[in-house]
Amino acid sequence: MSDDLIAVKPAVAAGTHVDAARHAAMTAEAIADPNGFWRREAGRIAWMTTPTQIKDVDFTGDVHIRWYADGVLNASVSCLDRHLATRGDQVAIIWEGDDPASDAKITYRELHARVCRLANALRAQGVKKGDRVTIYLPMIVEAAVAMLACARVGAVHSIVFGGFSPDSLATRIQESESTILLTADEGRRGGRKVALKANADEALKSCPTITSVIVARNTGGAVEMQDGRDYWWSDVCDSQPAECMPEPMNAEDPLFILYTSGSTGKPKGVLHTTGGYMVWASYTHELVFDYRPGEVYWCTADVGWVTGHTYIVYGPLANGATTLMFEGVPNYPDVGRFWQVVDKHKVNIFYTAPTAIRSLMREGEAPVRKHSRASLRILGSVGEPINPEAWLWYYRVVGDERCPVVDTWWQTETGGILISPLPGAVAQKPGSATLPLPGVLPALVDGEGKLMEGAAEGNLVLLDAWPGMMRTVYGDHARFVQTYFSTFPGMYFTGDGARRDADGYYWITGRVDDVINVAGHRMGTAEIESALVAHTKVAEAAVVGMPHDIKGQGIYAYVTLKTGIEPTDALKKELIAWVRKEIGPIATPDAIQWAPGLPKTRSGKIMRRILRKIAANEVDGIGDTSTLADPTVVTDLVDNRVG
Ligand code: PRX
Repeated sequence: MSDDLIAVKPAVAAGTHVDAARHAAMTAEAIADPNGFWRREAGRIAWMTTPTQIKDVDFTGDVHIRWYADGVLNASVSCLDRHLATRGDQVAIIWEGDDPASDAKITYRELHARVCRLANALRAQGVKKGDRVTIYLPMIVEAAVAMLACARVGAVHSIVFGGFSPDSLATRIQESESTILLTADEGRRGGRKVALKANADEALKSCPTITSVIVARNTGGAVEMQDGRDYWWSDVCDSQPAECMPEPMNAEDPLFILYTSGSTGKPKGVLHTTGGYMVWASYTHELVFDYRPGEVYWCTADVGWVTGHTYIVYGPLANGATTLMFEGVPNYPDVGRFWQVVDKHKVNIFYTAPTAIRSLMREGEAPVRKHSRASLRILGSVGEPINPEAWLWYYRVVGDERCPVVDTWWQTETGGILISPLPGAVAQKPGSATLPLPGVLPALVDGEGKLMEGAAEGNLVLLDAWPGMMRTVYGDHARFVQTYFSTFPGMYFTGDGARRDADGYYWITGRVDDVINVAGHRMGTAEIESALVAHTKVAEAAVVGMPHDIKGQGIYAYVTLKTGIEPTDALKKELIAWVRKEIGPIATPDAIQWAPGLPKTRSGKIMRRILRKIAANEVDGIGDTSTLADPTVVTDLVDNRVG
């Protein structure tokens, strides 16, 4: 690990929202007077009724988290209406297509009209406050319109990433009991088409709650439209008025559900509410990216993940920013694509994932240097630990040592960034997410939950709440309490491990549970295992993460076949294709090892620690195997390791 300190440059500090002195003052104030601090920060969004109650939180017992509980607002008003008088003709969204020849610019006024039309159309379909609407869209402007239209009518959106399979889509629709699905004919990515409507048709065979499907025409590809269920977006929207009364929402009314993977069971519906989430989205977007009016801001995530929710749509639009939405991928048509887009749209702030940085780093400096990148001011990283080597490449080559790098640590559950340098205030260290934002109280605890002081390495917890945190697991509050508050009672457990150095800087070391992070995509090993065992030839499966140069982690699967089934390369290919079909391409196993037996304790528990060591080729570190029911299985697995 690198401990080089990269100081805040005077040019960056000049005109910053938060300099070092302000950072210290805010941090102290948020601890001394959280109610006063968060009352003031609430003023950054638009309220119909200003809240008088600020914080009401209990991390013990049944756990309740309420912020601004008597406030009334509508998230879409903060993102749209209140900007019309001052910046109605400013570009809200720059859309850059997968095909470099296609782009579009949408002003705040146009976005407002498009959102209102869809909101009216949703109401015409019978959507009421509290109803769930599933969104399965590619990275087109309609995705942002869909989110804001749901918010406008008080519907709770649940976005399913366009790369998920029909099965994954179906489970998420069933769990949320959505009544409407918003999708498109097809998506585009890296020159290929993604059959979204066809996937949706497949999923809907097992989703009786869906009464209508609204389909955006994107590629113009042929799709089947079911009479009485499926409608073209333009047919339901074009005739609607461009004004729509926003639904008054209590601060604690849900804004969205987003399904994410945990260490066990089915994906959890992470529920975020309206007031606190919006304050957090605006606060963090402004502080961490030091967003200044008129700047062009680009987050390369997909709206299917939380990063897209908070840092493509809600945060930037709440702050009146120009946000860039990119349909494509970093290496199409060539590996200079990001930098070509940066120059084309004069991007000032650029936010991407370490996996993208590492894959571009492999291609050398020339494709970067070919483009000027002179507009860039701030670079951000998110989604997985960034190794110092990739951090330094990003800093030196992409940012010409001019732009600070903000390594932002957070989670779907946290709603927004919790640990990150503020560019005008905090000196950076390559590979460290540095310090908590003012108002965030991280800590490290040992295995017994004892707080660790000073420089230490342990489990990362949060000691108190912040406005943007999740409120519950949709439909399963007991699972919420169990997952996040039972390991270390009275604290929110992140599932991550971290090291804190002598300067108090945090270095996230990765998940300490059975969640893996593959190319910045979070996945539960249990989900991949259950996809594998659903195949008729598989008796048992165990999945672990293995180190991967580009993706951070790869997927390593140990598979035990049913008796009499021949282990062949053809069957490996079949299983890989099967997992892709069951979950989606992001879950494609990188390696499959035939395992005649799995290392189990006498009580039948699989010792994953051993499997992780073998996958990582760290066989010397396997340690004690004497508690296994049959220690010889380990020898066999070591001898037949793949790769
Ligand atoms: O392990 C951490 C890792 O990603 C997990 C959260 O994944 P997800 O809910 O999909 O949200 C991703 C976008 C916020 C965390 O538990 N992670 C996220 N950001 C970082 C990170 N690990 C290290 N450094 C980061 N900056």
